[in-house]
Parts: sequence; C-alpha cells; structure tokens
Amino acid sequence: MSASYPSHRACYLAILSGGSLPDGLDGLLEPWPDPPSPGIESLEARLLELRAEEEYQAGSIFTHIGRERILLGYVPAALVEGGWLASAVEVRHSHDELGQACLGAWYLESGEGEPALHRGNLYRAQLGALGLSPPTLEGLLSREDERLCEDDFALALVGLRLGRSSVRTQQDGGWLPEVLGFHAAYVELGPPALVRCALEDTGGRYLGDRSPGTSGQIRAQEAARRCLLALLERWPSVWPRLWRGASALLRSRLAWYASLRPPPSPREALAAMLVRKVRHARGRHGGVLLDGRALEDWFDPKRFNVDAFLDALARSPWVRPGDPERSLLLTRLLAFGGPMFGVFSPEEERVLRRWIQDLPSLATTNRRVSDIDQLTPVQPPPLPPSTPTPSPSVRRRGKASLYRSLLLGDTAHARRIVLRSLARVKNAGEEERLKAQGLWPYTWNTLAEWVERRMQAQLGDPARGLGLAQGLSRQQVCWLLLQLAPAALVDGAWLQGMTRPENSHRPEAGWLLRIYYDELGAGVVRQHHGNVLRKTLAAQGIELPPCDSEAFEQWPGLLPEAFAMPVLWLSFAQCSGEFLPELLGLNLAIEMAGVGETYRIATQLLRRHGIDPYFFQLHETIDNAASGHTAWSTEVIGLHLEQASCQGKEAVSRSWQRIWQGYATYEATSASLVRAVAARLGPGLAWGWLKSTVSAAIRWS
Ligand SMILES: [Fe+2]
Ligand SMILES: [Fe+2]
Repeated sequence: MSASYPSHRACYLAILSGGSLPDGLDGLLEPWPDPPSPGIESLEARLLELRAEEEYQAGSIFTHIGRERILLGYVPAALVEGGWLASAVEVRHSHDELGQACLGAWYLESGEGEPALHRGNLYRAQLGALGLSPPTLEGLLSREDERLCEDDFALALVGLRLGRSSVRTQQDGGWLPEVLGFHAAYVELGPPALVRCALEDTGGRYLGDRSPGTSGQIRAQEAARRCLLALLERWPSVWPRLWRGASALLRSRLAWYASLRPPPSPREALAAMLVRKVRHARGRHGGVLLDGRALEDWFDPKRFNVDAFLDALARSPWVRPGDPERSLLLTRLLAFGGPMFGVFSPEEERVLRRWIQDLPSLATTNRRVSDIDQLTPVQPPPLPPSTPTPSPSVRRRGKASLYRSLLLGDTAHARRIVLRSLARVKNAGEEERLKAQGLWPYTWNTLAEWVERRMQAQLGDPARGLGLAQGLSRQQVCWLLLQLAPAALVDGAWLQGMTRPENSHRPEAGWLLRIYYDELGAGVVRQHHGNVLRKTLAAQGIELPPCDSEAFEQWPGLLPEAFAMPVLWLSFAQCSGEFLPELLGLNLAIEMAGVGETYRIATQLLRRHGIDPYFFQLHETIDNAASGHTAWSTEVIGLHLEQASCQGKEAVSRSWQRIWQGYATYEATSASLVRAVAARLGPGLAWGWLKSTVSAAIRWS
C-alpha cells in the first residue's frame, strides 16, 4: 500500500463518519469496451451482456474460494448498497422530475420506510440465517474485523465516493450521470455474480427480491429507467458518462474477484516460470545431471514434468531448503562468475528465492500483502469543482449565506450550530421541568398521552375567527408567506442526513425516511411540499429562483431571520447520527406545530385574500396525530427508547432528556423570526397572535 494513501478501510470509515473525503475513483471510470449506442434500451441490452461476462468471470474462480469468504467479503459493500444515490436525493435536488426519479429509486433501495427491507439489512439477515455472524455497520466502524480484507472495502468505496460526489447544479449534472449509470448497472447486473453463486439455493429476500422477472426487480428497473429518462431529457449530451458509471461497477467487481483469487504459491509461481522458459534451456547444460538424469533430458519441452523436476531440484545439493542464501543454486550458479549468471531476471530470481525459502514450511504464505500491493490505487483524477466550502467573506454575510452553503454541502459549521442551539435550551431536558409537564419518567403511555393532550389543545376554539389578523392587507399576507419560503422550499431537510448510508439502515430510519419521502413529494413533483408553496407564491406574482441559488439568497423582501430555522434543520442533517435523540425531538416539534387552529386560521386568512390555502390544508391533514407524520414522529421516539432500554434505565432517561432538548430548539429558533415580523407589521397585530401563528407557520411538514 502506497504510503501516501490511506487504506481502503480508512477511506470507508472516513466517508461513513462524515469526515473529509479522500478524492478519487481509482481509475475505475474508464469506459468498458464496446459501449452501447445511445438509447436506454441499448444500454440495458449491453448491461445484460455484461451480466453474462461477469458470471463467466465469477464462475471461473468460485470453486477456488470458500463461500464464507465471499459472503463476508461482500458485507462492507452490501451494507451501503444504494448509498451512491445519497447526494442525488438531497432536498435541494428534489423539486423536479429528475429529483423525484432519484428519490423513487433510492427509496426502493432503502426499504421504503421498512428497515427490514433495507438492502443492507436484508443481506445481513440472509448471512445471519446461514450462521455467518455478519458484522454490523457500527461494528465495522468501531473495530477491525479480521475476516475482512482491504479489497472488500475497496469494492464498497466506489459507490460511496459517487454518493458523496454527485454535486448537481442548475447548469450541469455534476457526477449525476456517472451515479445513474452506476445505478443502472447495479440494477441490471443484480448482486455480484460471485455472491449470487454463493447464495444459490439458500432462499432469502436479498437475492429473491432482485432475481430476473420478480416484482422487486421489475420495480427497480422501472425506477432506474425513470432516472435515466429524466437525466437525458435534461442533459442529452451526458450519454457517454452513463457508460463510465456503469463501467465503474463492473470494474470494481472484477477487481474484487481478482483479489479473492488465491495468489500462486511460491512453488506454483516457479513452476509457471519454468514452463514458460524451458524451451530456451535446451542445448545449454552439457552433461549436467539431476537425480541421475541429464538436464538436457529433463528440459525436453515435449516431456517436461515440472513437478518431478522441482522435487528433484529440492532434494539436490544445489538447494538448501529454507535457506536461499546458502543454496549453491543461487550463490554459485546464478551469482556473478557462475555459469548461469544473467539467465534469470531479478524478478525471476526472486521467484526462485521465494521457492527455496518456502520449502520447509509450505503454509506460511501471506497472500493479502501481495494482493494489496497489486491493487494500490493510481493517482486519482480530481473531482469536478464542487461548491461547499464558503470563504470567510461568505461566512460574514449571515444566515442567508449560511443557508446556501449548508445546502451546497458545507460541513464546517453544522456541528457548531447544533451545539449552540442546544446550549440555548440546555435546561429543557431537566428532570424537574419534565415532571412539571407530566413527562417524567418516560413510559410509552406518558409520551402518547402528552401528544394527545397537546394536539387537543392545539385544536383551539373552532368558532374563533381571524381576530386581529383581519387587519392584514393582501400585500402583507403575501409578504408573510414569502418569509416561509426559505424553510418551506427545503421542507424535510432536517431528515436529509438519515438518507446517508451510515444512517439509512438504522431502525429509526424507517419512520423518519417515510416522513422525508412524503415531504419531498413521494415521487410526484406537484406533491413536493416546497413546490406547493412555490406555486402559491407564483400565483401572486412572486416567482422564486432555486433555493440553492445566489439569487434566492439575495431575494429582496426576505428577512434574514427567515433563514434561521432551515439553517438549524440543515445543520442537524449534517450530524444526524451524533444527535439522533435531539433530532427525534426536533422532528416531533416540527410535525406537531401548526396542526389545529393555526392552520385553520391561516387557511381562512389566505382564502379571504383569494390566495390558494392548499399549503396549510395539506399540512393539516398529512401531519395528523392519528396516522400521519405526528403519529410517526411519536412512534419513532418510542422505538428509539426501546432500543436504548437494552443499555439500561439510565440510558433511556438520558435519551429522553436529550429528545426534549431537541424539541425545545424548535421554538427557540423560531423566536427571532417572530420578533422580526412583529417589528415589520407593527402594533396593529398583537404579539400573542404572531407568536402562536408565525412560529407554527414557519414549518410545515
Ligand atoms: Fe410533515
Ligand atoms: Fe411538509
């Protein structure tokens, strides 16, 4: 392994721990020969041919490798299957057909909100049923598993790198063409042929769901095809890059297969070398005998018996087994001045030396070291320019700039923002406070009843009308709606981090990803919650630019405070694993807020001015506490605490307190916008109305 490169395992850990990403795709993007002609059908047909090619390669080595080695070796890659789509399903990409297509394809891989159906979890379950004790992702990240090799991590890295590199912009697709080519190949080729051989006749859904002709496979193919169609519709010229992505999948698999093939033993290596050279040996050895037989006779190419020759040579006085430095073959015959000086190249001489060294103990080879050396990656090409890191001057421009840089992937500030928000509400999880609200100690009933009481209270008085809000003009209402845009356009962003491969397999991810999928439109552009508000504003003459554009950051009329809440959301998304309990609390606060009287009054207010109120109606229904997002948000807290209970009562109490601290960040963060709106609209509106209405309305999920 080159000293200047971290190991493949280290890169794997770095990516899944959210650390800085070592660049490079190891030259694997070089196109495979005979690319298909443009057209999705041609691509699929060519991929079917590659499937046969991969099967041939796998079949030639399957019998040489133990099933356990194959199946365990694929674990690092299987656990992060679909992870290459992680960047493609970020909120900022989700507003159009291409984003929705990617969302659909990724949702299928992640188990559609059902953790047991997550591809990585299915694979672990199948290996577990075979008694193989596969490591978990957390296990891989925390300690070395001696059953795994460097090349097993190299196989997983290609997809992981693509998933962190698909920086799509308004102008071009970034790495998205390669990502979607890779995904199309993954779907058409199915699980690696070697893994399919090893799992044959074992049953299980990992393989069963992706066998040709099954409903799972047909759905995956349709989802992948939708992605390709949307991509080519948008950027027709990227066709060759799809093939590069598809090639990367095949190349990475073939490299892995090669790493699994046992390297030749020193004896096999020498035998192969002698067979190759024997025809050059005739006529050069005079009357020299070996084991009573003339060398000229031994070296008859038509009768050359390399095994017998090596056995005889090992017994001869020319060789001292285990000690090449004292073997006359090397010290006298091959050395300078000897009759065979220069006959062997330095590499060939090393082969000979290794054979002698190995003679006493044939079981001491260390194949992994040689494998790793062979597969040391070449200097990778730089990634295309991405946008993330803001310059110091950008950072000084405030919340709107921070919003944009976080959307574009800035990782420098997120953790600090989350910690600062939590510090502002550090007392919110105190035992005494929770007792005062009937929330201590945690039981499922305590939580469920509290949510029930709260939702009842939020219903308010059905007879209550607009009250002081009647005084708002249509222009003021539109301005208020505009303040919702920075958060509404990225509705769901607080859960974006759960889509990443390091989180999407968690039990909690099931409920959270269902919510995320809904917020982003569940595969339908017009159902995208941000698009609903965008359409409402457009009908009022406010045509907003893309949320990740500079134009949006500087959009006139937007208060800087309107960016505070989405900045918190996007920051949580960057460190979801570390702050999972707090995220669950924030998620509950977001989903509950507004349901009831607030949305009812907001709907009335918009109707009064002839503005489409569907944005609020949508959230009144989808966030309901019976079977909607509020119910799911409650369920996932219960599930999380059930998991924590395995570590004891203390762990449950601590998580419960952290959940309420996260819950409190919602109201604390909304306060600045409430104050700013109050200052703008003046004393005509009561502070109390603003506090209850605006703070609830700056989220909708
Ligand atoms: Fe929601
Ligand atoms: Fe929403």
